[in-house]
Amino acid sequence: MKPYQLFDQDTQALFYNLKATPIQRMLDFDYVCRRKKPSIVGVIHPGRSGFHKAFFGAVEIVIPVYDRVGEAVRHHPQASVLINFASFRSSFLPSKEALLAPSIKVVAIVAEDIPQRQTRELIALAQQQKKTIIGPATVGGIVAGKFRIGYAGGMMENIIKAKLYRPGSVGLVSKSGGMMNELFNIIARTTDGISEGIAIGGDTFPGSTLLDHLLRYEANPNIHLMIALSELGGRDEYDIIKARKEKKLTKPLIMWVVGTSAKIFPWEVQFGHAGAKAGKEEEGAEAKNKALRAAGIIVPSSFAELESTIQEQFQKLIREGKMKPKQDTQPAALPLDYKDAVKKGLVRQATSFTTTISSDVGEEATYGTMPISDVVAKGYGIGEVIGLLWFKRKLPSNFSKFLEMCIVITADHGPAVSGAHNAIVAARAGKDVVSSLCSGLLTIGPRFGGAIDDACRYFKQACDAHVPPVQFVEDMKKKGILIPGIGHRVKSKRNPDKRVELLKKYGLKHFAKTPYLHYALEVEKATLQKAENLILNVDGCIAVLLLDALMSSGAFSIKEIDEIVQIGYGNALFALARSIGLIGHILDQKRLKSELYRHPTEDILYLLGEGN
Ligand code: ACO
Ligand code: LMR
Repeated sequence: MKPYQLFDQDTQALFYNLKATPIQRMLDFDYVCRRKKPSIVGVIHPGRSGFHKAFFGAVEIVIPVYDRVGEAVRHHPQASVLINFASFRSSFLPSKEALLAPSIKVVAIVAEDIPQRQTRELIALAQQQKKTIIGPATVGGIVAGKFRIGYAGGMMENIIKAKLYRPGSVGLVSKSGGMMNELFNIIARTTDGISEGIAIGGDTFPGSTLLDHLLRYEANPNIHLMIALSELGGRDEYDIIKARKEKKLTKPLIMWVVGTSAKIFPWEVQFGHAGAKAGKEEEGAEAKNKALRAAGIIVPSSFAELESTIQEQFQKLIREGKMKPKQDTQPAALPLDYKDAVKKGLVRQATSFTTTISSDVGEEATYGTMPISDVVAKGYGIGEVIGLLWFKRKLPSNFSKFLEMCIVITADHGPAVSGAHNAIVAARAGKDVVSSLCSGLLTIGPRFGGAIDDACRYFKQACDAHVPPVQFVEDMKKKGILIPGIGHRVKSKRNPDKRVELLKKYGLKHFAKTPYLHYALEVEKATLQKAENLILNVDGCIAVLLLDALMSSGAFSIKEIDEIVQIGYGNALFALARSIGLIGHILDQKRLKSELYRHPTEDILYLLGEGN
């Protein structure tokens, strides 16, 4: 690279702070410029070492991520630029480390509000090491068609509009990044475009000055017209005037100092940038524009005239045969990001799954179409929420109350039952709450708690087909199937299950018709003839009352009821309810700091050996 060049089409950069968007913007610029290789070769982010995935055109690439600047520099000796996207709190040390690394030639510092003491130390170090700092408080810069720092040039539409994907003949330096982007457009309209544009940042102590970059542009044979956009405050312009007088700046130079409006304020005005305030008369925009004009620098009479001034000067250079405008080229077409393409309606893709019960897409999540805040405002209980999420409708209140009652009465049945036992053993083996809960839930099945669905199916089939209850019991016996919902280990005719009593009472009182309950009670009469523990158990009672609730509510079609029975909503209800008790047992064991459970060997019949 020539001494006047900071970047070219082969420049490799390290990027400090893993910020996916500016990294991608740089790689997108590289791609539209038809660079052979991406400009960013490494990212530095303490504590996140590994890889960062990004796109180069349509191809996904991985960029190594390092913990420290030193490590990145060692791995990438060809990298000559550090783009520092750290915050003002963290910018100093990596910048310093990079300035001390022999292979790094340019450090661009994006953060605003870095303490002046730190900036001055960095500037002194850069001068000593003969390195360039761009910034702080800058968007960076662009060498058209070759290299871009971070967000310089704005969105891709602007890059294309301002023709920054291919070199022109104009060198621009500006304090403000926003103004630089604005000027890129003006220059694209009035000339053959930008060769290089740098925003030095608006701090009182910029790492490099307007003059530093103008001197590089002067030495660059590809630049024929120079433009500098300054601000009130500071004395940079007087250095430029001096350089002009000393013939160090000979190319046509158009300048404008922003901030002429400051004179209408009777006090000292601080504009957006830290350095943009004029204490002394000669630091004001008016005075500086006047002095520049007097030194033979081209200064329009207002900012509004800048565009026509640039056009005139550019045409003049052509007329005088001092340059030939560069030819236009086409940028490489950048593939659209999938999300953007969808937004623009350019692509479509079949979705992978469908949901009909809830959404998290809008401002607030909904159960069905009802926002959760409405669910709360309407005072919905858990029965109504089950209505919305399981049955997809507002259930009649006798139905939702029935569901709540099922949950309340089957929430727990002491520590000895299968589910609680398993959950307790798991908790005592040191498993966490969720794992212990799963262990308990896994016991719910045809013999314990999970007989509801099959009870629904068998009772419904037999009742709908008008099979006499006694015959139903006989048929099941012949088939060798225990009737789901009948029988209990401890409860019996003489020791009735209170839960079943409560459920029956509720159903008889609140449901318009209870044919399935009546059928099951007839079946119970038959099974009790055989053994006194063959009662209609809690699973069986929930099953038949669920059928009665569905039928008598008038809210479901026959087809829907068949579907509910087929899918199996009943065991789900038991699993939901019993989770409450299982969690209780798990928390209890943890609170008690119960030791590992080992079943006593004297409680096990060891039947080993032949024949068994
Ligand atoms: N239907 C028809 N006959 C039955 C049933 C039944 N559900 N359960 C037991 N019997 C019969 C047996 O065939 C046996 O008859 P036999 O003497 O002629 O051989 C007799 O009753 C005793 O059988 P056991 O197996 O000793 O009964 P036990 O008390 O052990 O069974 C159990 C209780 C496991 C609940 C059993 O009745 C059963 O499996 N029921 C169906 C599943 C069920 O509903 N589970 C949910 C229970 S409630 C809950 O877990 C929350
Ligand atoms: C329960 O609800 O867990 C009980 O009915 C089961 C049992 O075995 O007692």
